[in-house]
Amino acid sequence: MKKVCIVGYGAIGPVHAKALENVEQAQFYAICDIDADKRRLCREKYQVVEYDDFDTMLQDDKIDAVHICTPHYLHFEMIQKALTAGKEVVVEKPVTMTGEEYDRLLALEGSEKVCVVLQNRLNPCVQKMKELVESGELGAVKAAKGILTWYRDKAYYESGAWRGKWVTEGGGVLINQAVHTLDYFSYLIGDVVSVKANMFNYSLADAIEVEDTFTATVSFANDVKGIFFATNAYVENSAPFFEILFEKGTARYIDKQLWVNGQMVAEDVNPAIGKDYWGSGHEALMKRYYDGEKYFSVTDASNTMKTMFAMYDSAKAGGKEIAVLK
Ligand SMILES: NC(=O)c1ccc[n+]([C@@H]2O[C@H](COP(=O)([O-])OP(=O)(O)OC[C@H]3O[C@@H](n4cnc5c(N)ncnc54)[C@H](O)[C@@H]3O)[C@@H](O)[C@H]2O)c1
Repeated sequence: MKKVCIVGYGAIGPVHAKALENVEQAQFYAICDIDADKRRLCREKYQVVEYDDFDTMLQDDKIDAVHICTPHYLHFEMIQKALTAGKEVVVEKPVTMTGEEYDRLLALEGSEKVCVVLQNRLNPCVQKMKELVESGELGAVKAAKGILTWYRDKAYYESGAWRGKWVTEGGGVLINQAVHTLDYFSYLIGDVVSVKANMFNYSLADAIEVEDTFTATVSFANDVKGIFFATNAYVENSAPFFEILFEKGTARYIDKQLWVNGQMVAEDVNPAIGKDYWGSGHEALMKRYYDGEKYFSVTDASNTMKTMFAMYDSAKAGGKEIAVLK
């Protein structure tokens, strides 16, 4: 049985805690957060060991694994220190905040063992889309389309000093909310080879530095094209939309159902832990990792992360085509 420390008990830390309740080979053992109120909330619910300092926590030999649920700018340094201390690492998306950090991570000893939280890959509809692509039953993929329209207001960005700033969040809707939708391109279709992108701040120019809206075209090998649109400037959090156009039909992931040529073939029915739109994959991902020794590695997440960083580079360069390097 692995003893786990959750680092960061803000919005997503409690989802990790709840998910671990049903994982046989892991025990939620300690919480590490710099915020005393967050630690108190956690202690009252789970009676776990408490740490207010990451480095001190790493010295606890009883802890086998750390779950990094902190703001983006802390991810790389925390992964690095945890690996050096001999801990297993489960890290929330985005794995790192910058492309430079990602390259350094890939080169780091032991980084291949890091488990990346891209839990939506395990949604039944996403798994079904993967099956359809891999089986080839609908012919080759011709194109794909991903759309995310969510709502984040000023109060959301003011809820954490790290939100909405380039140096601490690394971007806006793309790096934080839409990275899962972006991930479907690489996970389902294959490696993205180049992108052209633009970003805008339509609704929150007085509140955040980063973009609230992102558009892109993505290109794969063999002339397969993708279209991507994401915004936090809508009025509600609609279920993400993803479409794959095959030679012999279309698969549409809409309202948490997968429709192929007009017939529903899969549905995401499991109730989510936490916010409905986060999906229900955290528990599945942790069972897979601790009970099944299977996980999405930094290599598995590499094309998604590099596509995302290339999109920011393209948008900053006014939409110039940018290659996604290996
Ligand atoms: N997979 C998903 O669907 C999903 C959903 C939401 C958030 N996330 C990701 O989870 C991470 C955290 O996001 P959040 O929304 O929970 O943020 P948050 O601001 O709500 O929570 C972050 C927590 O980290 C703590 N913290 C900050 N610095 C710390 C330090 N040095 N040591 C220990 N604790 C520290 C804060 O006190 C806070 O409690 C981000 O990477 C985010 O993108 C993933």
